[in-house]
Amino acid sequence: MSLQQLETRQFRNLEHVRMELDAGLQFIYGDNASGKTSLLDAINVLCSGRSFLGASPRKMQQFGTTDFLLNGIVSQKKTRPLPIQYRWQDNRIRLNLSNKQVRKSSEYALYQPVQAVTPISYRLLDDSPDIRRRFMDWGVFHVKHDYATVWRRFQRSLAQRNAMLSAGTDRRTLAVWSREYIQLAESLDEYRSDYIDLLRQQFKRYSHAFLPDSLLEIHYQRGWDNECSLDEVLSNSFQRDQERRFTYHGPQRAELVLKLDGVLARDCASRGQKKLITFATYLAQASLQQELGRYSGILLIDDLPSELDQNHISLVMDILRRISMQVVITCIDIARLPKEHRYSDKMFHVKQGQVKEVVQ
Ligand SMILES: Nc1ncnc2c1ncn2[C@@H]1O[C@H](COP(=O)(O)OP(=O)(O)OP(=O)(O)O)[C@@H](O)[C@H]1O
Ligand SMILES: [Mg+2]
Repeated sequence: MSLQQLETRQFRNLEHVRMELDAGLQFIYGDNASGKTSLLDAINVLCSGRSFLGASPRKMQQFGTTDFLLNGIVSQKKTRPLPIQYRWQDNRIRLNLSNKQVRKSSEYALYQPVQAVTPISYRLLDDSPDIRRRFMDWGVFHVKHDYATVWRRFQRSLAQRNAMLSAGTDRRTLAVWSREYIQLAESLDEYRSDYIDLLRQQFKRYSHAFLPDSLLEIHYQRGWDNECSLDEVLSNSFQRDQERRFTYHGPQRAELVLKLDGVLARDCASRGQKKLITFATYLAQASLQQELGRYSGILLIDDLPSELDQNHISLVMDILRRISMQVVITCIDIARLPKEHRYSDKMFHVKQGQVKEVVQ
């Protein structure tokens, strides 16, 4: 799937932009504060219904306005191009797919999987496990479409169990109520673990390409002792859970552990290495998506060259040119790229919120 056309109205500093994008690789360049990240986020919001900056629509509407509009045309290989629209108006979000309103944002997002690698993504290694669980869940959701239902049912069941713990429910009653929690937790674990097994193969490929002299590993931890059943674990931790008033063990504590030469990457990797590990992880996810997902995705990369030396920029660019998906890359200046990489299928220059295609 690719975004053929993008139109923005009153989105951040982009008053009115209209772009015809290429299905392959494109560069967007411009000075600080020209609007590069805004453009990438416009694509992200339009395709997924969400800002990668975590901004609410009120923050995305241009200062002094009360609404904004994003329009696009997406195309899949075998289907006709279809219009998509994200509108923020009268304090309401309206999502349209093929001129029909879509009520569920998950249904909308499923159609055009978009992944953004931005300075926020580099927190994948450093932040709390929540960001890694979200990363993993995004991947599973886009290849196993019933995952969202299991995930939602699990969250409900967890909330219910926590409410019972808070209410001081006795051990025996809680055990009966925990059956559904256990069944959903095991199901979630199976989805995630199968997914990470597949991701690991792709991850090996990219991590070896970007950091050939180091050994990078990705491990999945399910959130409770591997040697015991969840039933046993819950039973053993009943007292502690009751004191804490919440369920400690389960998929809500799952973790994705990234190691560099046997040590937690978070603790030992340099800034550039962290960026490369993040690229390897996202590219692995994108390739898997391409292979297994119903729809192939779009990859957005904000400020690719920063923190990387010329050799590593080349390694990343070589891979991005070979990956057969739509890739949109921003950078401040094309001259920051190695000479042999200063071209793309399309190139755009942004200046004070205005976008112009550059003839190469
Ligand atoms: N809601 C908004 N309305 C209008 N302008 C906004 C809004 N939110 C942010 N801006 C402004 O938009 C401009 C462009 O921001 P953006 O983050 O897109 O720049 P950038 O080109 O990515 O810069 P950098 O190279 O520094 O990352 C900034 O001056 C920012 O203050
Ligand atoms: Mg930026």
